[in-house]
Amino acid sequence: MSLVKTIKELKEEIKRMSYGKDISIGFVPTMGYLHEGHISLIKKAKLENDIVVVSVFVNPTQFGPNEDFESYPRDIERDYNLSISGGADIVFNPNVDEMYPDGASTFVNVKGDITNKLCGKSRPTHFEGVTTVVSKLFNIVKPTNAYFGQKDAQQVAVIQKMVRDLFFDINIVSCPIVREEDGLAMSSRNVYLNEEERNQALILSKSLFKARDMFLDGERDANVLRKFIIDNINTKELANIDYVDIVDAKTLENVETINSKAIIALAVKFGKTRLIDNIYLEV
Ligand code: PAJ
Repeated sequence: MSLVKTIKELKEEIKRMSYGKDISIGFVPTMGYLHEGHISLIKKAKLENDIVVVSVFVNPTQFGPNEDFESYPRDIERDYNLSISGGADIVFNPNVDEMYPDGASTFVNVKGDITNKLCGKSRPTHFEGVTTVVSKLFNIVKPTNAYFGQKDAQQVAVIQKMVRDLFFDINIVSCPIVREEDGLAMSSRNVYLNEEERNQALILSKSLFKARDMFLDGERDANVLRKFIIDNINTKELANIDYVDIVDAKTLENVETINSKAIIALAVKFGKTRLIDNIYLEV
């Protein structure tokens, strides 16, 4: 069990734990301030691999200029303890200079619709930051399996595309969304919500669940479901919709009629806090 700060230490620690054998490494990249959603990924990684590495790194390149990089919640001691009790063997917590040493000027950019739409529309540099840091982490950790949450459905699709396009020899495991008891998708950013915002934010999961019920009852028209959700969310005066879209689960292209696996994805601001949520529709 160890907390390491440098790439050199991390590599030595992985080597030490593998005893020269060909072991499987499960990897869970995070930005910390861990909750049950993150822990579910660590537990799954533990079940499926010989050792588990968790990274805790608030990655500056995936935040826009007016976003919350500075104020993003951080508590490495708590994250370390939660990671270890979830089953992690090594927690990697580098500083920014370690991941972006002076002069680093290489970025990984998945082009096209998959990164330009949904969250990529209002956060145009976000996915480049994600794919860059995840590539760096993949090259450092060299995992067998890497675990990502469906909470960030577009992120999973983008990472899967990057792994295919760049021939990363890594299996990407996509894990279900973990929710609070009342339905709110767990997120490190939920701590920003005040009580009223937190109450009103419940409309997101509620309307997604209802739309899925309508789908299960036979509704296949994406516009009907989309309008239903938008109207529902707009009943809450603190809600400010960024997008509500229904897209193909693999390509993220918008669908009119749902006849293959699709995702209803949304981003809505409550006060200063931007929340995302989604639900899969299985045909
Ligand atoms: P972060 O937001 O910390 O999330 C780390 C991982 O936990 C992601 O794969 C995310 O989808 C997953 N996760 C978050 N909330 C979840 C929930 N409620 N249920 C299930 N899984 C959940 O995503 C990032 O960090 C970063 O972009 C990162 C990939 C680490 C690159 O910097």
